[in-house]
Amino acid sequence: MQFEDFGSGSATPSPAATTAFAPPTALPPQPAPASGVDGAGATTNERFAALCAAVGAAIKGDFTAPLPLQGHDRLTLLAKQLELLFKRAQAAAPASSTTALPTGAGADLTHENARLRYLIANTPAIIYSSVPTGDGKMTFVSDNALRVLDYKPEEMVTDPSFWFDHIHPDDVPTIFSSFTKIFTEGQQAYEYRFRARDGRYLWMHDSLRLIRDADGTPIEVVGSLTNITDRKLMEEALHKKGEEQQLLINELQQTQAQLLQSEKMASIGQLAAGIAHEINNPIGFVNSNMGALRGYVDTLCELVDGFDEAVGALSQHPELKASTGKLKKKADYEFLKEDVAGLVKESLDGLKRVKDIVQSLKDFAHIGETDWQFADLHAGIDSTLTIANNEFKFKAVVKKEYGAIPPVKCLASQLNQVFMNLIVNASHAIKENGVITIRTGTHDNWVWIEIGDNGSGIAPDILNRIFEPFFTTKPVGKGTGLGLSMSYNIVNKHGGRIEVASDVGVGTRFTVHLPVNQQGPATAAPKP
Ligand SMILES: Nc1ncnc2c1ncn2[C@@H]1O[C@H](COP(=O)(O)OP(=O)(O)O)[C@@H](O)[C@H]1O
Ligand SMILES: [Mg+2]
Repeated sequence: MQFEDFGSGSATPSPAATTAFAPPTALPPQPAPASGVDGAGATTNERFAALCAAVGAAIKGDFTAPLPLQGHDRLTLLAKQLELLFKRAQAAAPASSTTALPTGAGADLTHENARLRYLIANTPAIIYSSVPTGDGKMTFVSDNALRVLDYKPEEMVTDPSFWFDHIHPDDVPTIFSSFTKIFTEGQQAYEYRFRARDGRYLWMHDSLRLIRDADGTPIEVVGSLTNITDRKLMEEALHKKGEEQQLLINELQQTQAQLLQSEKMASIGQLAAGIAHEINNPIGFVNSNMGALRGYVDTLCELVDGFDEAVGALSQHPELKASTGKLKKKADYEFLKEDVAGLVKESLDGLKRVKDIVQSLKDFAHIGETDWQFADLHAGIDSTLTIANNEFKFKAVVKKEYGAIPPVKCLASQLNQVFMNLIVNASHAIKENGVITIRTGTHDNWVWIEIGDNGSGIAPDILNRIFEPFFTTKPVGKGTGLGLSMSYNIVNKHGGRIEVASDVGVGTRFTVHLPVNQQGPATAAPKP
């Protein structure tokens, strides 16, 4: 069928022109109009072909194809009407040229398609479909991929392993392990990192759904990829903030516990010093009275012996001698004379011990001491041993191997607390027949104090936790888990460090290293 003169025919357009917006098959293949597609110089067939091409493009959403407007026949009229329609459609459609809504007869489906295309292209997500075989080959990717990832949809579709190849290697295992779930559950959602063209990994939320046909056979997988990088970064920042806050809370709790503990130790120190002071007075006068008593007893015994001799000399009064002899026997004088000296000596020894304990209490407490002073650490250790004696006296002996150490600038009462904690821990670790070895020495301008035991030892897996506040392996009531953390802080404050070496079943050795001349509160030493 040839359309020689479109203009001179009937007013009803040819059925071929209205059934489809494509050149009718009866027309010979039309070359693209070489010139004057607007109609100038073109044959009717050429102009009709141009008209069909423009309508075909319009169906695809492109309203810019040239129309054969030059001429005076009905084809020109149709072209002009179409031009009007195209203009309206272009005016109605937003920016994207692909979204023009066709109007006119039979355009419902096209209309729907255009709307979907518009939505797909303009939704913030990347919409895609892939084969339902689980190998991730994409069959369609929306234009948004270019904006979000800087990839052309074509390149994503062409490369069958594009999707897998661009997932962050760390996220691949999680996706692989649950990918087949889509076939059992019908849908799936992941969050993973996807490499954009510039090499950055963007966090994506991928929401997939399996599409099946009426028989239930999987046809394809459709999904949407949303860039959630900002949310992830925010979450990360929030998480970090939360962790920082938790650390701060822990630190506050520890500080509070340590304050309470040092407050307690200070009260104990004060109590000890108070008791020491109170006992000091009576012990003082009892001690001096005892000394006098020993003299008096000696004198009295001498007196009795003198009388006895004198009475023996009075031979004319034998009954007197008999009577004093009876009295002496009744009083068990010989035993009494011997024993009283022993009693007085024992009492004086006991008093000396009480005096030593009182002195130790005073030394231990160093009450009111806030100044850094040079102190003899051996005296501190000795006074601490006296106070702690009760802890270990039935199960361990103390072996001292003191070296020659110079006085150390320190807060002596606090260092005594450290020695106390270490000695009490050593004694807790010992069941029986223990030996607590205390050695001291110097190196350069430092002194070291080593407190070792042959007790239970510390298991390697908890060795790095023993300095943590509240870490204890002891039953409630026996351990607070604060001894070592406080000791660590005190030694730290002195610019020193604590080291520990332990063998399970063999024993433990704590070594405190201190600078001899610490200038006030110290800079932090590295944690052991
Ligand atoms: N000499 C030691 N021998 C064996 N274990 C020890 C020794 N010193 C400390 N430990 C371990 O370290 C933990 C923490 O000690 P510490 O902070 O003094 O708290 P506490 O003595 O109240 O448990 C103890 O519970 C114990 O498990
Ligand atoms: Mg302890």
